[in-house]
Amino acid sequence: MIDVVIIPGDGIGPEIVESVKFLFEKALVPVNWIEAQAGERAYRETGSWLPDETVDLVRRFKLALKGPTTTPAGGGHRSVNVALRQRLGLFANVRPAVSLPGIETKFGNIDLITVRENVEDTYSGIEYMKTADVAWGIKLSTRPGARRVIRYAFEFAKQRGRSKVTCVNKANIHKLTDGIFLETFREIASEYEGIEADEKFVDNACMQIVSDPSRFDVIVTPNLYGDIISDLMAGLVGGLGVTPAANIGADCAVFEAVHGSAPDIAGKGIANPTALILSSLMLLDHAGLSNYSEYIYAGLCEALKNGCFTKDLGGDMTLMEFTEAVAGFFDREHMTYSGKAPS
Ligand code: NAI
Repeated sequence: MIDVVIIPGDGIGPEIVESVKFLFEKALVPVNWIEAQAGERAYRETGSWLPDETVDLVRRFKLALKGPTTTPAGGGHRSVNVALRQRLGLFANVRPAVSLPGIETKFGNIDLITVRENVEDTYSGIEYMKTADVAWGIKLSTRPGARRVIRYAFEFAKQRGRSKVTCVNKANIHKLTDGIFLETFREIASEYEGIEADEKFVDNACMQIVSDPSRFDVIVTPNLYGDIISDLMAGLVGGLGVTPAANIGADCAVFEAVHGSAPDIAGKGIANPTALILSSLMLLDHAGLSNYSEYIYAGLCEALKNGCFTKDLGGDMTLMEFTEAVAGFFDREHMTYSGKAPS
């Protein structure tokens, strides 16, 4: 039995979390959910956007599945995500962009991984008003911070038999901050003989990703470029509704969809739960329960192959209709699941 802290979050968060819980129950995943709060609801109930109790629970149980949380633009409170990543030392944000069956996209067979530095760069929260009309923000870059995320990207590539790691940067302009990142990349790359080390400036990388994504395999990049590039990649595989993510730290890991709380469709029951489902499968793999993740993934792929789509993918299924359709494919004979249904 694994203990997993579950944070429903805001907007569509509670709806997509219910979808994952439903599928885990149907697939008999041995999970014990520990409910915790963050975001607007937490603020209403406890006066804190990120209660200490939630952070302590994730520290204690080491695994969490999180729904999106709302952050107002401009003034107001600091992003719950940024705070959670910093307080828990979740230094690597792993964002796969992988083609799914049945979803038609410009390029057929995409399999890209972005490993985004997750706690430094312009997200370190060091910004202030220099005068009433001038705001200053600090782009923070440290060698230890670069080392741990770049090492993680190369180890990730090595363990999964991937052939290339590209460092996306802007060291021609941000000579010191991105300079540290690029220098560290070169140092660490020299230790991994079988893996090709590639470098691209972020503007050129964006152009190349949308022209020919097959030129990339694993990308490692500072925080802001990673945030933008991974959404760009989401667009190549079907949009934000199908793109998962994992926040990895030395001691714990938090899994969540790339997308936000989608206030425009919240409460309507029409959100696509696929991104959070895929995030939950990354969690199962991380916890050593790949037989369950393969089982659910096969059902998900069958549902998509059979044209089960929510509105964002051109279909008319509600979130729960789609979820039930996925579970409906768990036991079909033609299922590609490699083993037996877990018992
Ligand atoms: P968003 O990702 O919430 O929505 C962008 C567009 O994609 C909207 O049209 C939305 O309806 C659609 N969309 C997103 N997820 C979908 C899904 N699962 N199914 C179907 N359609 C989906 O981005 P936006 O509007 O910029 O941000 C809304 C709020 O979410 C903001 O407060 C932002 O700070 C927060 N946010 C939170 C994140 C997190 O908690 N991990 C990540 C990104 C944004």
